Amino acid sequence: MRYAYYTLAFLVLLTVSIMGFRGLVTTSAPVMVFPDMDNQSKYKPQASSKFFADGRADRPLPPGTVPHGRTAAADPAFLRADDAHYAGKNADGSFVRRFPVAVNPALLQRGADRFAIYCQPCHGALGDGQGITKAYGMVATPSYHDDRIRAMAEGEIFNTITNGKNTMMSYADKLTPADRWAVIAYVRALQRARHATLADVPADQQGELK
Ligand code: HEC
Repeated sequence: MRYAYYTLAFLVLLTVSIMGFRGLVTTSAPVMVFPDMDNQSKYKPQASSKFFADGRADRPLPPGTVPHGRTAAADPAFLRADDAHYAGKNADGSFVRRFPVAVNPALLQRGADRFAIYCQPCHGALGDGQGITKAYGMVATPSYHDDRIRAMAEGEIFNTITNGKNTMMSYADKLTPADRWAVIAYVRALQRARHATLADVPADQQGELK
């Protein structure tokens, strides 16, 4: 009979020692017979640190840090150092009223191509806000031919494409900065076309329209 009690006590001890401590969290390192170099005093990414006042192990970069071997002058594209081109802004933070890229037929061609893919579904092929999405309930799409948008700085349109505006999403992941300028050039062409007069047509071709 005595052995039956011993066996029972042993089984209880075994059960508790195997099952009883599951789910317990501890910050101390596990007991290791051969620790080798498994536990080292080092910081892991995004861990906390008591050493720094802000409690972060990751240290922010000092302002103006550039990658080794690159400078803003030598590598403006990598560092996006040109605010006009990469943010549509002047040095004082206002929106640029010009194109920081060369406007030529190739740019307009590219702009027309990107516009048809990324803007036309909502803004319409003519830029009048009558895109296909209107029929599905997106009724707030404005027309580019409103005076407000005709008068809008190129840089502000760049900003709208980059960051979106209210219900319009950002297209920064789909259009590179250069493509955004191409689309803006095409938007300007649409606006110009809508408000053109006979005087805009070359004199030798006006006869065909009369
Ligand atoms: C999914 C539909 C949709 C697409 C695609 C879209 N837009 Fe818009 N866009 C809108 C809506 C809606 C607004 C009005 C946002 C608001 O409430 O001010 C708008 C507003 C604008 C405005 C006016 C911003 C202002 O300050 O009032 C411009 C400029 C513009 N879009 C340009 C573009 C260009 C360029 C593209 C293509 C890269 C594009 N949009 C693609 C829906 C769209």
